[in-house]
Amino acid sequence: MAKNLHEFMDKLRAIGSDEIIDVKKAVDPRYEATTFMRKLELAGRNPMVVFHEAKNLKGGKAQIPLVINAFASRKKLAIALDLPAEQYKMEPALELSRRYNQTIKPVVINKSDAPAKEVIQLGDEVDLFDYPVPITHALDGGPYILGGSVLLRVRVDNPKAHVDLNKKFGCSPDEALRLLFLAREQGLDVAGLCFHVGSQSKSADPYLEAIAGCRRLFDQAAEAGLHMRILDIGGGFPIPEIDDDFDCEPMLYEISTALKEYFPDTEIWCEPGRFICGTTVNLITRVIGTQQRNSQQWYFLDEGLYGTFSGVIFDHWDFELETFKAGKKIPATFAGPSCDSLDIMFRDKMTPLLNVDDLILVPICGAYTSASATVFNGFAKAPRVVWEDIAAELDETAATVLPNAG
Ligand SMILES: Cc1ncc(COP(=O)(O)O)c(C=O)c1O
Repeated sequence: MAKNLHEFMDKLRAIGSDEIIDVKKAVDPRYEATTFMRKLELAGRNPMVVFHEAKNLKGGKAQIPLVINAFASRKKLAIALDLPAEQYKMEPALELSRRYNQTIKPVVINKSDAPAKEVIQLGDEVDLFDYPVPITHALDGGPYILGGSVLLRVRVDNPKAHVDLNKKFGCSPDEALRLLFLAREQGLDVAGLCFHVGSQSKSADPYLEAIAGCRRLFDQAAEAGLHMRILDIGGGFPIPEIDDDFDCEPMLYEISTALKEYFPDTEIWCEPGRFICGTTVNLITRVIGTQQRNSQQWYFLDEGLYGTFSGVIFDHWDFELETFKAGKKIPATFAGPSCDSLDIMFRDKMTPLLNVDDLILVPICGAYTSASATVFNGFAKAPRVVWEDIAAELDETAATVLPNAG
């Protein structure tokens, strides 16, 4: 086993630039280092990269190098375990399991031989701005060092949520204290608790219950000497649905009041997903076929269950179809373009009569749609057009085609 990081890096150097690259040019950890990594990734390469001349957060030369991708391949894991580089498939797992089964007793060695605590800084000597801390991309709030901080996810039973997110994640409140202390024993910084009441939750009640429950856990943990500082209330905030133009302001007010009452001094996080982007995207789809089958009207669209309408399956979402047609509505079946019989989005959906080439506007397609869409059967995902980018061009076209258009 390599004795320390330097020995490990020397072993990688003996293999070559597929496993390690030493960058001797000055590099700015603000985007530049990660841009370099991204380029390598796009080229299908994942070596450890040592930036020897990285700048620190004050713009000067950092006294320590920036190292990225230390274990980013199975080959590197094999080498770290003293296996030959070509034994990187099953062998590292087997070797680890062998070592777990044959643990060795700790051996006391000389301090001078110990490859740990080689650099020690205490108190005011510590200045994080001296380090080459990367900013990964433009959306990062700032430079950050991953420091082993964890939140414990607590389960919230909420059968009323549109999508239940508590079947796979979250411990029961009874288990929470044991897990919090276990995490601390393992050397993690136990920063707080998090929960998610389930997506598209139209009541404040599950949030209020969860907030009160978390308060109890914060207090019990504090009594036992563990002081937590963050509560993350997850997502779940709802957007309008067909026939329910839900106003969530009163609900948000209730949640915010409870947070102020129960957690006045705690840092509160939330992770809204659907609420931020759900209403920002509309789909425009075209009728590509019509048919009568057993007296039922069928419409085939150029977008289906394998595309944007994947939200019908994965998000259990019912989409509104705006056809811009007047007239009597009939129940119809809407199917997608693929070869699969599963590719039926709606049955008995009320619609005016439609013709081939009619366009349909589908509002509220911004969440859980294109993310789960596929290119099954060779149908590309729906292209995205940003309204602000094309609005002026469309206005010009409209003025030419329809000179009297307002
Ligand atoms: C951990 C976590 N946070 C936030 C979200 C976003 O949830 P929502 O879209 O309901 O706001 C999800 C959704 O799956 C999630 O799993």
